[in-house]
Amino acid sequence: MSSLNKFRYNRILIIRCLHFTEKSSVVCRFQHVKVNHWVYADPRLKEGLESGVFKHKNHPGIMQLKKCYLPEHLEETMYMLAEKYPEDQLKTAAQKLYNYLWSRHLPPSDASIQTKAVVLESKLTKKIDNVESLTSEDKKQLADRTVDTELLKKLKRIVYHWQPIKYDVFRCFQYMTGRVPYDYSCLYRVLNEIKMRDSNFMPKTLLDFGSGLATSVWAANAIWNGSLHEHYCVDKSMDMNVLAQLLLQEGDEDKPMCYNHVYFRRFMPQSSKNQYDLVISAFSLMELATQTDRLELLMSLWKKTEKYLIILENGTNAGFDAISEARHFILQCPHDLPCPRVTTDKGTPCNFKITFKPFYKDFCHHGHRVKGENVEATFAYLVLKKGIRNSDEQPWSRIVREVHRHSKKVPLNTCSPEGHLEHTVITRKRHGADLYMCARKSNWGDLLPALKRDSLLSSDNDEDDDDDVDSE
Ligand SMILES: C[S@@+](CC[C@H](N)C(=O)[O-])C[C@H]1O[C@@H](n2cnc3c(N)ncnc32)[C@H](O)[C@@H]1O
Repeated sequence: MSSLNKFRYNRILIIRCLHFTEKSSVVCRFQHVKVNHWVYADPRLKEGLESGVFKHKNHPGIMQLKKCYLPEHLEETMYMLAEKYPEDQLKTAAQKLYNYLWSRHLPPSDASIQTKAVVLESKLTKKIDNVESLTSEDKKQLADRTVDTELLKKLKRIVYHWQPIKYDVFRCFQYMTGRVPYDYSCLYRVLNEIKMRDSNFMPKTLLDFGSGLATSVWAANAIWNGSLHEHYCVDKSMDMNVLAQLLLQEGDEDKPMCYNHVYFRRFMPQSSKNQYDLVISAFSLMELATQTDRLELLMSLWKKTEKYLIILENGTNAGFDAISEARHFILQCPHDLPCPRVTTDKGTPCNFKITFKPFYKDFCHHGHRVKGENVEATFAYLVLKKGIRNSDEQPWSRIVREVHRHSKKVPLNTCSPEGHLEHTVITRKRHGADLYMCARKSNWGDLLPALKRDSLLSSDNDEDDDDDVDSE
């Protein structure tokens, strides 16, 4: 049995997917199950509202952040260090790197190249066969002479040419000014969700693979101030590690780092005994050359996870593919259902929106929406927790599309804990004032504080016309 398979079969811990993740511009191409009458406000919502624990606008399902900014002293150090290069040169290069990373695909597998080659070969031989003026011997000779070279030429044109990125000193500065605000915001958003959903969790140790400029160290300390006493950052680029450390030293090599016990290493920790409360891989799966490398890495990260494993990628199709692959590989567990985006909605990534302030004011992010000084981008993520599933966990659905509020109704597209993509129109009349007001305050990525009546099986159960409520 291969080591990867052994890992799968020996795994005994119960895993749960805290979250899974989508694109604002994607048109809804699939049929959601309608659940209008099946949804009702979670009784805990009323309790919390009545006792003043929270208001509708900050109900406990709210996970999205309005915007997320870098810690001030990190941003100041970045500005100071960026002065090493002329602004125009660095800005142009940073923009290029950002857009390149955003458009990046996973390296094609041998099997997918093989499939494309077979299709191309059959097209080429068919073309030769169709030339009536040639004898069958001529056809054979022509095919022998041309197919291989033509095939190679055509394959080169259609197969994605993945290349590793060498993070040298200048590229690290490009990364710092181009990507850090986005990376930090995504990490902060996901770690903040863990904190909100698991308030007793106080991580002491962190392992970050492909740690880059240690954005995870900044984000984790911003969330769990003073709790972490070991940060193990793994990045194969020496230059990244040096710049990451310098950022933590506020740009001065003689200063101590602003967080204790941050270790920069080029390789994963050797000892298989060491486990970490938080294990993170953010935007790094795309850096690995083959699927085997990715799966071996995931196996190693999972083994090193004491509590939470967090995988983050761009909110693109490619990022979502990397996340889906990771989820599928680790979640071979009957308690966890397949992602409905993968099973029923192929081609639409499951991602979420993040609003961040770019380092440069008029920085041009490929295909992102600009809102004043901020930019909106998407990210895809996976959070897995080791341990026994908590039965008290709220079985709330997640809003997986942009929310468009109408007068007197809030149509929502959600993903249910049972693994269904659902559509519900929340109205005051049908669902009560509290759930209606909470829905109005909710956004893409939030949890809807509602439960569902039993035995919801198909859209046939609810043929409600969404528009009927306008007359209320
Ligand atoms: C896209 S950056 C992500 C940085 C960081 N995780 C963040 O969120 O800001 C990917 C990082 O992975 C590192 N990397 C690539 N392959 C690696 C490997 N095999 N082992 C360790 N680090 C690697 C690169 O040097 C680079 O710093």
